This record gives sequence, structure tokens and C-alpha cells, in this order.
Amino acid sequence: MYVLITGASSGIGLEIAKLLAKKEYDLILVARRKNRLLGLKKQLEARYKVKVITKECDLSEEENCYQLFEEIKNLDITVLINNAGFGKIGYFENISLENELDMIRTNIIAPHILTKLFIKVKQKGFILNVASMAGFQPGPVMATYGATKAYLLNLSLSINYELQRSNKNIHITTLCPGPVDTEFNKVANADFNLSSITARQCAKEAIRGLFQRKELVVPGMNMKLLRIASKFAPLKIILPMEFRIQTKKTNL
Ligand SMILES: NC(=O)c1ccc[n+]([C@@H]2O[C@H](COP(=O)([O-])OP(=O)(O)OC[C@H]3O[C@@H](n4cnc5c(N)ncnc54)[C@H](OP(=O)(O)O)[C@@H]3O)[C@@H](O)[C@H]2O)c1
Repeated sequence: MYVLITGASSGIGLEIAKLLAKKEYDLILVARRKNRLLGLKKQLEARYKVKVITKECDLSEEENCYQLFEEIKNLDITVLINNAGFGKIGYFENISLENELDMIRTNIIAPHILTKLFIKVKQKGFILNVASMAGFQPGPVMATYGATKAYLLNLSLSINYELQRSNKNIHITTLCPGPVDTEFNKVANADFNLSSITARQCAKEAIRGLFQRKELVVPGMNMKLLRIASKFAPLKIILPMEFRIQTKKTNL
């Protein structure tokens, strides 16, 4: 039984790969950095009784998503983990359009395509879509990123609701982490001032929630509490609060 993990070369995806290898799932690891994937394959195959396939793939290219699925669709894949993604901090007018379109393609189009193809082809299985706490509300100074995660969050919750009323045995869990200590900050050009959880902890809670068929997983106690509190906060509080948090993360 294979698990397909996108964005397995670092951070949350890499930790999910380690946890699932320990549970003896065979893995298909996807990312752009081939050497990282090959290093992880070597490590996991030496340590656990698993087969690991690596796929060097830039998911921001729509064609690559179709090609990836075509190459692996005949394998016995029971879990799809759409984890690859990135953010960029900055004022909307200053972030390059190309960077934002790349983000939209990686964070929205790629998981959309892979989720669709998986559901079309498979009768049963699990999907973990990695959104973010940033998807629950508008986020000035990280506007596009938050919007991509709001898309993935709402898409995943809606499809899961449909699936639970269909004759397919497929369940989607949406993971919404707050700050996690990974390479995300470096790529986003941010220094988080909120306390982060480890990628290991995030991965553990995600996998537990996935196999318990939870529709939503918010890892870490602080973020669970923040999520509850933010449900009652009006936009006139949320918008300036988000603005303050994001501008503090970098020299803006
Ligand atoms: N860290 C946080 O605070 C945080 C909070 C909420 C949500 N998240 C979400 O968690 C997910 C994982 O991020 P992370 O925190 O683990 O960050 P990370 O350490 O930077 O990992 C991101 C992963 O995505 C892959 N990736 C990025 N662009 C790609 C592309 N075009 N094609 C294929 N793979 C691509 C990267 O691999 P290559 O560079 O090798 O391609 C890497 O493996 C993301 O969706 C992120 O939005 C993170």
C-alpha cells in the first residue's frame, strides 16, 4: 500500500514520510529537490521494511501534475497527501505577480488536480490536504497565501461532505497548522514571532487525525484555543491584528 506525499523533501511532508515509513507504508515522495528525496529514500529503506519511489516534479506546472498521476495511478495508493506549498510575506503591490501565480498553481491548482484525479480513479482511501490557520480569515501582508489556503480548506471540507454521502469510501482531512518550525519561513521571507511547534508534532497530529477520519486538524493547543477565540472576533479586530502580526515578522 502506497502513500503519495507531495512536498516530502523538507518540513511537515518529510516528517509525515518518516512516520508513515515507521508504520510500514510504501511511499511515493514528490518534490523538486531530487537529492533530498534520494537521501530520504536511502534513509527510510535502510531503516524500515518499505519501498520508496521518488518523483522529482515541479507541481507549479499543471502538466506535471497530470503526468505524475498518470505515472503512479496503477500503484495501490491508499493515501494522498497534498502537502507541497509555500507562502510569501509582503504588501500585495510589492510581491511579484509571477511569484503569486506560482503560489496559486502550487497551493491551489496542484492539490485540486491531484484530489480530483484520486477521487475519480479510487473507490476508497484517505486524502490529507494541508491548508493553514491562515485559511480561516483574511490576512493582510500575506494576502495571497491566506487566500490560497482558504480555497484549499473550503474545497476540502465541501468535497469531504459530499464524499461521506456517496458510495465511495474516501475521506478527506484538512490540516490547518499555525506556525511550524520548517523551511517555510525562509521561503516566505518571514521570522515568526509566535511560538512554533515542531514539524514532527504537526505530522503526528495530522496522521492521527487522518486515520481517525477527522475532517479538520488544528495541531497544537495554542492554535486550537486561538481558533476557538477567533470564531468570535469581528473583522474590525481580525484585520488589524493580522496586519500587526505579519508586519512584525519581517522588516516591513
Ligand atoms: N510551516 C508553517 O508554519 C506552516 C503553517 C501552515 C501551513 N503550512 C503548510 O504546510 C505545507 C508544508 O510546508 P512546510 O512548513 O513543511 O515548509 P517547507 O519545509 O518549506 O516544505 C515545503 C515543501 O513543499 C515543496 N514544494 C514547494 N514548492 C513546490 C513545487 N513547485 N513543486 C513541488 N514541491 C514543492 C518543497 O520541496 P522542494 O522545494 O524540494 O520542491 C518542500 O518539500 C505547505 O503547504 C505550507 O503552506 C506551513
